[in-house]
Amino acid sequence: MELQGRHVIVIGGSTGIGRAVTDDVIAAGGIATVGSRSREKLEKVRADHGDRVKINTVDVTDEDSVRDFFAAADDADHLVICPGDMAVGSVTEVTREAIDASLGTKIVGQLWCVRHALPRLAGPGSITLIAGGAGFRAMAGMPITSAANAGIGGLGQSLALELKPRRVNVIVAGVVDTPLWDFLPDPARQDLYTGAAAQAPVGRIGQPSDISSTVLHVMANDFIDGAVIPVDGGALIS
Ligand SMILES: NC(=O)c1ccc[n+]([C@@H]2O[C@H](COP(=O)([O-])OP(=O)(O)OC[C@H]3O[C@@H](n4cnc5c(N)ncnc54)[C@H](OP(=O)(O)O)[C@@H]3O)[C@@H](O)[C@H]2O)c1
Repeated sequence: MELQGRHVIVIGGSTGIGRAVTDDVIAAGGIATVGSRSREKLEKVRADHGDRVKINTVDVTDEDSVRDFFAAADDADHLVICPGDMAVGSVTEVTREAIDASLGTKIVGQLWCVRHALPRLAGPGSITLIAGGAGFRAMAGMPITSAANAGIGGLGQSLALELKPRRVNVIVAGVVDTPLWDFLPDPARQDLYTGAAAQAPVGRIGQPSDISSTVLHVMANDFIDGAVIPVDGGALIS
């Protein structure tokens, strides 16, 4: 995809899927503004891409922080929102803190991002949200993660109608090897990856580039709007 001279804002773009989107935007000739909470992680992105990338801290759970981030940003052609958070725990175990963090990041936080990005997205452009398969294929023991991911689907489709002619799409990622899973000890993470690879018809888990290449495709194709697109190696149909 050719992004020469295009500006893409990537929230949650310092590691994992968002980092791969940032790398692909730069490789396609674009420029990126990357936001996340940790300045240290952001500095690594800048070290790799120099002045092709602007960085700024933002916490999507804090509306003032999101407002400040976009007030300081330049006008953009596309917005990608992928801050990660996972509420672990069954209905009897999941804590209030984990629920607030998960919904605050993945639902309310994405809404703040879209709201405050609007003055920066004057043209037709696009907004891409990232959800996960847990919202679209029932999984026992993950009620809040499932609710958050399903909610992103509804959020994206509603916004696509409200914000036309800007396009809004949702990518539903399968299990992808990113720092999102670092909270699991090594053997448990490997078990999860092995189980997910065995379940997926393609026989492997995803890499961040599997998702980022689809994000760039959705940016480029102006006939894709209001779509909820699985990129999961077939996990949802298995
Ligand atoms: N990896 C998977 O298997 C998988 C599967 C399905 C869906 N997803 C979804 O894909 C998205 C990206 O996940 P990932 O796997 O790429 O995770 P990741 O590697 O942990 O990256 C998350 C990114 O979001 C930033 N972030 C987290 N909380 C934030 C906040 N409150 N405000 C601003 N930035 C925040 C992180 O940087 P800071 O720590 O510096 O804030 C980082 O840049 C998430 O929504 C995740 O749920 C992932």
